[in-house]
Amino acid sequence: MTGTAFTPRVFSGIQPSGGLTLGNYLGALKRFVDMQDADTHECVFCVVDLHAITVWQNPEDLTRQTREIAAAFLAAGIDPAKAILFNQSQAPEHAQLGWLFSCIARMGWMRRMTQWKDKAGKNSEEASLGLFAYPALMAADILVHHATHVPVGDDQKQHLELTRDVAAKFNHDYGVDFFPITEPVIGGPAARVMSLRDGTKKMSKSDPSDMSRINLSDDADAIAQKFRKARTDPEPLPDSYEGLKDRPEARNLVDILAALQDRTPEDVMSEVAGQGWGQFKPHLAEVAVETMGPITAEMNRLLADPAEIDRILADGAERASAIAAPILARTFDIMGMVRRA
Ligand code: AMP
Ligand code: TRP
Repeated sequence: MTGTAFTPRVFSGIQPSGGLTLGNYLGALKRFVDMQDADTHECVFCVVDLHAITVWQNPEDLTRQTREIAAAFLAAGIDPAKAILFNQSQAPEHAQLGWLFSCIARMGWMRRMTQWKDKAGKNSEEASLGLFAYPALMAADILVHHATHVPVGDDQKQHLELTRDVAAKFNHDYGVDFFPITEPVIGGPAARVMSLRDGTKKMSKSDPSDMSRINLSDDADAIAQKFRKARTDPEPLPDSYEGLKDRPEARNLVDILAALQDRTPEDVMSEVAGQGWGQFKPHLAEVAVETMGPITAEMNRLLADPAEIDRILADGAERASAIAAPILARTFDIMGMVRRA
């Protein structure tokens, strides 16, 4: 189809629905910073508060968590001079395009989403309508900025496919070449950081067991203890990465070390082959503390001045709207809405 050249632009978002985990850091934040620093794309990053309220959020907690996620972006290295950082509800174009897209997307598309099935569970009649429509809003987040690339963890792959379907259907139905078909950017050893208690489940801020995850707010002792108690099999580390194929818990710890050190897992294995857990785990904990410690400290420093965080978010929202408003206006025109002169 496409003849249109789109400005290379990255968009990604994180929900302020709790504290961040090592999975969020390695699978998302750290990669956002790498993309910002590569200087090949405009970067737009969003604290997606409108997504968080698809499940109940206590208002005070939502306010605090929004500032915490913003502080985490900044502490990890997002620079408001280079990238846009804002919270979703301050740029109304997101919710507006979200509505238009809920008229493009089909019920059947939404029903197939595994995140919907997992989160709604057996009680789907009691789930909010927003939780069901969530992927239409996510498509709007991305497409209201005409984003060409979206870095996310593996769990978001299906939502990005739906985003491409929404763009293609809109373009087809209205006979235009207006929305880009966005490329997901997923990969590397940290695309799916697994729980420390169960190598078949992803590390998640909503897991009932705090021992299953490393939180960005954990101190050095907690990090060391959680890695020490992380579930593994009794075998020592094999000679090659290939040897970890059927050992999900062991592979996860090697992947985490690789991602923390910006190395390939194969390279890590060449150093740790044959080690027992009594040697490997304290080393992993030490590397994690070295990487995360300064980020946690910087986050806490920033959180001592919430007014400054709010100022950065407000400035970001203004810049985000400057991109989004003309794209939304053009969408209304394409759909035939009569507009104020
Ligand atoms: P969320 O916390 O669900 O808003 O997720 C924010 C970002 O972190 C998304 O890009 C997720 O794909 C990513 N993410 C969350 N958990 C993990 C994990 N365990 N491994 C890798 N990436 C993750
Ligand atoms: N759905 C994402 C998550 O739960 C968060 C999100 C919302 C997002 N809008 C987005 C991610 C747009 C990337 C792009 O992690």
